[in-house]
Amino acid sequence: METVVSGIRSTGNLHLGNYFGAIRNFIKMQHEHRCFFFIADLHALTTHPKADQFRQSVRNVLVEYLAAGLDPEVSTLYIQSDVPEISELYLLMNMVAYVGELERCTSFKEKIRKHPDNINAGLLTYPVLMAADIIIHKATKVPVGKDQEQHLEMARNFANRFNHLYEKDVFPEPYAYNFGNQLVKVPGLDGSGKMGKSEGEGNAIFLADSPEVIRKKVMRAVTDSGPTEPGQTKPESISNLFQLMNLVSSADTIAFFEERWNACDIRYGDMKKQLAEDMILFTHPLRERIADIQKDDDLLNRVIRQGAEKARESASKTLHEVRTVIGLNR
Ligand code: ADP
Ligand code: TRP
Repeated sequence: METVVSGIRSTGNLHLGNYFGAIRNFIKMQHEHRCFFFIADLHALTTHPKADQFRQSVRNVLVEYLAAGLDPEVSTLYIQSDVPEISELYLLMNMVAYVGELERCTSFKEKIRKHPDNINAGLLTYPVLMAADIIIHKATKVPVGKDQEQHLEMARNFANRFNHLYEKDVFPEPYAYNFGNQLVKVPGLDGSGKMGKSEGEGNAIFLADSPEVIRKKVMRAVTDSGPTEPGQTKPESISNLFQLMNLVSSADTIAFFEERWNACDIRYGDMKKQLAEDMILFTHPLRERIADIQKDDDLLNRVIRQGAEKARESASKTLHEVRTVIGLNR
């Protein structure tokens, strides 16, 4: 049995990228390992959300975690800011993280490019807080999508550097994990890049989207004028549609549209209609459970309280050890 930690930032509702990149693994892993799954609300503060909207997002993610099948009785489910030990470890780990390596981080450079008006120090040290999230429970496996690979490499560097500096094996090395071995990147509907909530409108399918919204978004997905030669390689926008189909449709359906593509008589309208219906079918049970759990304040409050208690128990042990190693405990 290994220790598993993962989190998702509470910046809105969860989408199919989050589901297939992360949550699908959480659900499988919870029965096999010692699991800690949390809502990264402190990480979400880098974008300065308004308090009401921020509170609502945290609640939404919790509801969607539960709706997706996370069982608070078998795994520890908590909100990052409820565990102050994480923030203290973050401060201590900042002493072994170098500004140079943080500045070279791809996601930081991407933020500078997209939001040059809000490059706060929280964005720069984002990977340090993420490392603290993981190593506070001494986790070795971290179920995340492909976009998080570099952050995990940084977490390993910080953990190893700390061990080396204090000549103690405090932290094991954490690795990004996916059941199929390959880390997943779910494409968006706008013809390029990944599905993400901060991408353009209509790029992501949310777990809570209604059937009408899903149909509308999928029918608007970017396509081209169609193949002209049998067996041609697919351009990115079309390959994205096939990748999405691979996640939600049956083998027969996928084979049918692959054949149509290869024979150059594919009708994108038909393919999108089928994809939308399969996405609706896939998300249907989730949507129903979201609506039920949404109303259950008692359940949500109980989960939050229990989770914080269990997470703090594990986190405070590690923090005590860290403080002793550093020489902070008198
Ligand atoms: P977003 O990109 O929408 O802001 P997050 O960055 O909060 O989502 O991602 C939370 C988790 O979901 C991470 O493990 C991340 O790797 C995974 N994830 C997000 N988008 C995708 C995607 N398109 N494909 C695969 N995994 C994804
Ligand atoms: N950085 C992750 C993301 O954007 C979220 C995250 C924060 C996380 N802390 C973590 C993921 C710890 C795994 C483990 O998706």
